[in-house]
Amino acid sequence: MILTDSVVDFFLETRKHSEDICQPLEIEDYVVQPVVDVSPPKWHLGHTTWFFEEFILKPHVENYVLFDEDFSFVFNSYYETVGKRVVRSDRGNLSRPSVKKVYEYRNYVTEGIKKLFETNQNEEINALLEIGIHHEKQHQELLLTDIKFILGNNPLLPAYSTAFIDHPIETHQKDWITIDEGVYEIGHNSNDFCYDNELERHKVYLHSYEISNKLVTNGEYIEFMEAGGYQRFDIWHAEGWDWVNQNQISAPLYWHKIDNEWHNYTAKGLQKVKGEAPLTHISYFEAFAYAQWKGHRLPTEFEWEAAQTFFPWGKRWEWTESAYLPYPNYKKVDGALGEYNGKFMVSQKVLRGGSVATPIKHTRHTYRNFFHPQLRWQFTGLRLAK
Ligand code: AVJ
Ligand code: FE
Repeated sequence: MILTDSVVDFFLETRKHSEDICQPLEIEDYVVQPVVDVSPPKWHLGHTTWFFEEFILKPHVENYVLFDEDFSFVFNSYYETVGKRVVRSDRGNLSRPSVKKVYEYRNYVTEGIKKLFETNQNEEINALLEIGIHHEKQHQELLLTDIKFILGNNPLLPAYSTAFIDHPIETHQKDWITIDEGVYEIGHNSNDFCYDNELERHKVYLHSYEISNKLVTNGEYIEFMEAGGYQRFDIWHAEGWDWVNQNQISAPLYWHKIDNEWHNYTAKGLQKVKGEAPLTHISYFEAFAYAQWKGHRLPTEFEWEAAQTFFPWGKRWEWTESAYLPYPNYKKVDGALGEYNGKFMVSQKVLRGGSVATPIKHTRHTYRNFFHPQLRWQFTGLRLAK
């Protein structure tokens, strides 16, 4: 990658976009951590900044002066290679550094990177810069979903923004797409950026299958709920059934029954559930149970990738049947960034596509998102296969 003005612009645009996402927030919204998986917005702003400081400025700027010696402890997420850090569940206890300080930190590091562009460009820095930008984009999606969770769990259900549409509609006719049996190539195959988990490109054999050209809708899911889907152990995994019972789950996240009518919390506040909108905020367990009830199944990540040119995607992260595993000949990079993806390849499920919260120029058809099966605060949904 040659470092051109457009890359500098890509960097600056990305830095600004994180701050734009936070623009509707009040100071108090920046700090809370209602559950361990949801990080305070302030922490995301600091962590994405720390990533550039730790992996680019510190090693590549001579006599670099850290903005604050303590920030690596505060904003390191999970890099054992880098050193000690605040435990994840304590992120919400960080009333300091203040939001103001964190914005100063952002400016300091953004300026530092800009200066580095002007004086020292090489392949290694360029590659790190690219991963730093994509890393911040991943956190932009997390920022949005974490803000939704913070506001959506505030008993007053305050709105976030009228500009953010969390319930886009798919207007096309629902149909099955038939894919022939055969050998398909899976994995990243261009000079554009990808994460290490999208490599190596390799062949898989797929039996003939059918995949829906449309996401499952809220209305379809309400049929499952009304048919007693949450009460029927026989359509759930054992772990899913335990999860339903232990957490008394009876609807997707953010759904409330008011005057016998389903409502859901959205970026605009509480609204009636739109039957025709694609279902979202469901766990893998729920996606699986719905497919069982329908007499169908979830596609594997390979089936999804082999068919993706035949349907629109990008509104919901789609749970697949695939475990998050390394591809054949997967190699994690040396050093701290080897901790980025590889060490999470156990006990998680792959999601494909993208969502209404995914920033532009981020996802692609080979992108592998991954979460534990019970999590549902991302914009998750499902597509059936058979
Ligand atoms: C790919 C969304 C599961 O949330 O940890 C952020 C993204 N990786 N910083 C996560 C990520 C490093 C990752 N997910
Ligand atoms: Fe991160």
